[in-house]
Amino acid sequence: MKKCASYTGYGTSYCKLTLILKTDTKKKGGNMSEYLDFYKGKTILVTGGAGAIGSNLCKRLSDLDAGLIIILDNMSASYEWNIPSRHNILFVKGSVTDDISLKRVFNEEPSHVFHLAAFFANQNSIDYPEKDLHVNGFGTLKVLEYSKLCKVERFIYASSGCSIYGSAAPLPLKEEFMSMDLSSPYQITKMLGELYCNFFYHHYDLPVVKTRFFNSYGPGEVPGQYRNVIPNFIYWAMKGLPLPITGDAEATRDFTYVEDLVDGLLRAGYFENAIGKEMNLASEHETKIGDLANMINELVGNKAGIRMVSKRKWDTKSRLLASVDRARELLGYEPKTPFEQGLRNTIQWFKDNWENIEKSADFPPGSSSAVREQVTE
Ligand SMILES: NC(=O)c1ccc[n+]([C@@H]2O[C@H](COP(=O)([O-])OP(=O)(O)OC[C@H]3O[C@@H](n4cnc5c(N)ncnc54)[C@H](O)[C@@H]3O)[C@@H](O)[C@H]2O)c1
Repeated sequence: MKKCASYTGYGTSYCKLTLILKTDTKKKGGNMSEYLDFYKGKTILVTGGAGAIGSNLCKRLSDLDAGLIIILDNMSASYEWNIPSRHNILFVKGSVTDDISLKRVFNEEPSHVFHLAAFFANQNSIDYPEKDLHVNGFGTLKVLEYSKLCKVERFIYASSGCSIYGSAAPLPLKEEFMSMDLSSPYQITKMLGELYCNFFYHHYDLPVVKTRFFNSYGPGEVPGQYRNVIPNFIYWAMKGLPLPITGDAEATRDFTYVEDLVDGLLRAGYFENAIGKEMNLASEHETKIGDLANMINELVGNKAGIRMVSKRKWDTKSRLLASVDRARELLGYEPKTPFEQGLRNTIQWFKDNWENIEKSADFPPGSSSAVREQVTE
């Protein structure tokens, strides 16, 4: 069993294991399901594992019989009732910016680190830009440092395809495109995280994979002031309120069901071809926000309709559609969940957990004018 030799400084002797892994040819991309068996018995760290995507990833890893899944989460944006409670999941409350917490979780010697903890998302980062940099920049750097010192076999970074391509990229969005015109601190720091990953890959041979998510939705995301449109629409629809469309009902998003993202993450942790690369994980399907609102109202039985509210200044993208060709080629990734089915599953989760969701949904007065107008009037 490999050991974490030290928590400070970067010794060059720690690179041997990763060099061996890079020349291993067994795990090339493809459609085999052996990537699922691969996690059996492994020790896995999931930062942000109590959150919307992390909680789904941890459940899946638990179902796959991982030996130990360690969640490191400071609970700043999640709720105890949403932490998966399983025999092979260990919850550690702490921050990715804090050495004591990092020592505690890396002492378990994880072979894989899924780094999902983040200060989420655009409007939050505009309201609190320093917190955003602290968690998404400094926190990511810290987790990379510990991963390198403990010679983890794979570091998988949760980047954001909705964020880092800027507004001028041609559709469908492809990994090669780079933008200098990002419109929120969150977009900048999600890109910064990728750049730190590149540094650790090139300088220390840390086997990193950068997965770029697009508009996740599904069970596990609790609505709130800073959350995504789908959980907030379902919440308001269930309360019989009109759904607020910020600026443009024709705007599109590439909504990706959380289980498809989790499948992409599990593949990214396994296939050798992915190391050092960045890849979109999306549905390759565009949905108009106006159509989304109507679908949710219909599925929930909400008669209150929609209403237009002012556009958010940072929201500079009228359309989002990703290509997943690279993930298809490197990982055998294929988004499988039809949108309506994903929405039905999400609404069912809301119904099953309504008491907790109603208690937890957080819409305090703040700077997010569009959603505040909706729930306080
Ligand atoms: N949800 C999306 O549509 C989407 C899209 C693109 C990228 N992403 C990225 O995917 C990841 C997961 O997103 P999510 O939707 O599950 O978000 P989330 O907010 O539900 O989960 C993030 C978790 O990180 C925790 N956290 C925040 N600061 C922390 C800290 N300092 N230390 C430890 N834990 C901390 C929060 O409590 C939360 O549980 C994030 O990195 C996010 O940037 C998400």
